[in-house]
Amino acid sequence: MFDTRISRRAALMGAGAFAAWMHNPARAMLWQAGALPVPAFIDGLIARMTLAEKAGQLTLMPAAWGGGVATALNPAGNGPSFDGQLDEVRQGRLTGVFNGNGAEMARRMQTAAMTQSRLKIPLLFAADVIHGHRTIFPVPVGEAASFEPGLAERTARAASYEAAAAGIDWTFAPMVDIARDQRWGRTMEGAGEDVLLGELIAEARVRGFQGKDLKDDDAMLACAKHFAAYGAAEAGLDYNTVDISERTLREVYLPPFKAALDAGVLSFMASFNEISGVPSTGNGWLMEEVLRGEWAYQGFVVSDYTGDMEMIDHGFAADAREAAKLAFLAGVDMSMTSGFYRDHLPDLVEKGEVPVARMDASVRRVLAMKARLGLFDDPFRRIDVKREKARSRTKPTLALAREAGRKSIVMLKNEGDLLPLPKAGKRIAIIGPFASGQHDINGPWVVYGDNGQAVDLATGVKAAVADKGLVTVVEGSGVEAPVPGGIEAAVAAARAADVVLLAIGESENLSGEAQSRAEIVVPAPQMALAEAVAAVGKPVVVVLKNGRALALAGAVVQAPAILVTWFLGSESGHAIADVLFGDYSPTGRLPCSFPRSPGQQPYSYAHKPTGRPNPPGDLQPYKAHYRGIPNSALFPFGHGLTYGRIEYSGLSVAPSMAWDGELVVSAKVTNRGSRAVEEVVQLYTHDRVASVTRPVRELKAFRKVALAPGASEVVTFRLRRDNLLFIGRENKPIVEPGKFDVWIAPSAETEGVRGSFELARA
Ligand code: BGC
Repeated sequence: MFDTRISRRAALMGAGAFAAWMHNPARAMLWQAGALPVPAFIDGLIARMTLAEKAGQLTLMPAAWGGGVATALNPAGNGPSFDGQLDEVRQGRLTGVFNGNGAEMARRMQTAAMTQSRLKIPLLFAADVIHGHRTIFPVPVGEAASFEPGLAERTARAASYEAAAAGIDWTFAPMVDIARDQRWGRTMEGAGEDVLLGELIAEARVRGFQGKDLKDDDAMLACAKHFAAYGAAEAGLDYNTVDISERTLREVYLPPFKAALDAGVLSFMASFNEISGVPSTGNGWLMEEVLRGEWAYQGFVVSDYTGDMEMIDHGFAADAREAAKLAFLAGVDMSMTSGFYRDHLPDLVEKGEVPVARMDASVRRVLAMKARLGLFDDPFRRIDVKREKARSRTKPTLALAREAGRKSIVMLKNEGDLLPLPKAGKRIAIIGPFASGQHDINGPWVVYGDNGQAVDLATGVKAAVADKGLVTVVEGSGVEAPVPGGIEAAVAAARAADVVLLAIGESENLSGEAQSRAEIVVPAPQMALAEAVAAVGKPVVVVLKNGRALALAGAVVQAPAILVTWFLGSESGHAIADVLFGDYSPTGRLPCSFPRSPGQQPYSYAHKPTGRPNPPGDLQPYKAHYRGIPNSALFPFGHGLTYGRIEYSGLSVAPSMAWDGELVVSAKVTNRGSRAVEEVVQLYTHDRVASVTRPVRELKAFRKVALAPGASEVVTFRLRRDNLLFIGRENKPIVEPGKFDVWIAPSAETEGVRGSFELARA
């Protein structure tokens, strides 16, 4: 796509050249040359539309079919019944619906649109296909822990294959918001705290959802959300105010959106939050200047669920009419759920407050997208009840769910090589609220998946071991409340066992949208269970379920082995068993740092040094740290163990990088253990002196390397000047010559091997 050409060009240019290019008329021509083709009939169609029909094309509603799945996931609306919604379709008052229920619903609605509406414009069906459709893959933050963008692309592809067969044309994914405050429950839906990982996962998921051609019956339109800085909510409180410098916005929060755009995403969703006083839904700078101006975006923008209406509660719009006007003029083409565009845009145009040309431009974008999705050629191309069944939960997609599950698991600790466990001869007690049962397996943000079809931990373990009779299962505690006699039963089971699997953590409703937590800890009743079980003295493997990083403490953090298992989806129990019993050596790495204390939030490994950093070693007075705890993570970004023993040595780096040159950095990585593993080798840099202070470390590259027992590999990375770009004082990307530190390391806060180089002047 044209955007890719621009971005590569930008990426290969230095600061001055980049700025010059941005102001060069040739750039505008190139963008025009690459403009998305809009079929000629669309302008003819727009010319025939009434203002009410135009507003209808800009109005998306939650589906009413079957009581409306959408309202189970969102604040309840007071829309019409399904029959009422069919009437709206006939009147051309809807562009489409979302979170409906399968091909049969889509068939009935599309039939009404194509046979009974005046202009016969096909409907668009959308849904929150966030981490799978009927086959559920790990929650996105878990999948990001795989550090394998190719995997994220494959699961998104598989999700499209299933969902597009169920009549879904458009998914509200990927969420590409960076999350640096783990109190924010939607951490589970993104790729974590890091910009580079966020960019790579964003583009992979867009490619996966959209496939080769949006017309294909296994492709869906993707949606980059939530634009922008939704994850920067103050105090990690969902929907809260964001007050942020333009520099941080451009350096941390916008890049994954740009990456999604460069990968070809053609819909954006405006975020609920305000940025420095202006709600995103009413932020013309964000959508018109940055997105459509600087980035030459040619798709459309949809509001989030009632985002326009919420500008009234923000205190930014006086009433519905003003909210519709502000959102529309700021660049939101389509309104979701409130109905404000349908109710007010025609009048706003008639009174001259909104130019009709603006309305036509938005309608054109939406209709062009329907054409790109092939809906004008065949409105039923994704609607086929038989195909929906045939593509649902097939063997290959379930196998992919298992692969994705085990690759998402992060092993935080493994003292005395407690793991992997032998498959025979050990009595295993699985204890905890997540030990067994058809609940809390798929994770938050699942519209269509069924926990009843997912594999729980006990089932996975029993399928792996030689003798199921040696496995006992005890609940021990509820998620947030004790169960009568739970601890006594758990202690008895632990006593009778050789090893305990302690399945504790967060339930589905402790993370996800609107589930901010002030205390990001394992809930107290489960901690009591953990302490009681630990006191028995048997080896304990913590199998943690979580949608965010947690501050682990007490018996949990002291357990000899800890696996972070997130919410792994359909094949969860099998995926965990693969790791527990050594069929798979863990490869996952933390995409978000696990803090020492909840009070350390927000936290990112890529923090600034401050003027008073604590030197390595003991805490010193008048240095930047909280009382009693180092200013670092307990388990940092990038951390994760394997079943090998990995050694880093022999960093090789040239003393300098020419301005237009390339720097080759390498290190030797050796597996001194007795099992074959894959190690995620990470390269970080630090810019020692710059005109804007720089983070203590920044991830610049990583690679997964397979290492047989005893094997070594020299892992080589190549850096160029544009890898060292940052946002300067003018809020534009710049690079400055000077000294840089470089690490090749197993995590963001371990030393690995370290060197330095100088970026020479031009
Ligand atoms: C969420 C979006 C989602 C929408 C529709 C909103 O509450 O913020 O991410 O796509 O609901 O379900």
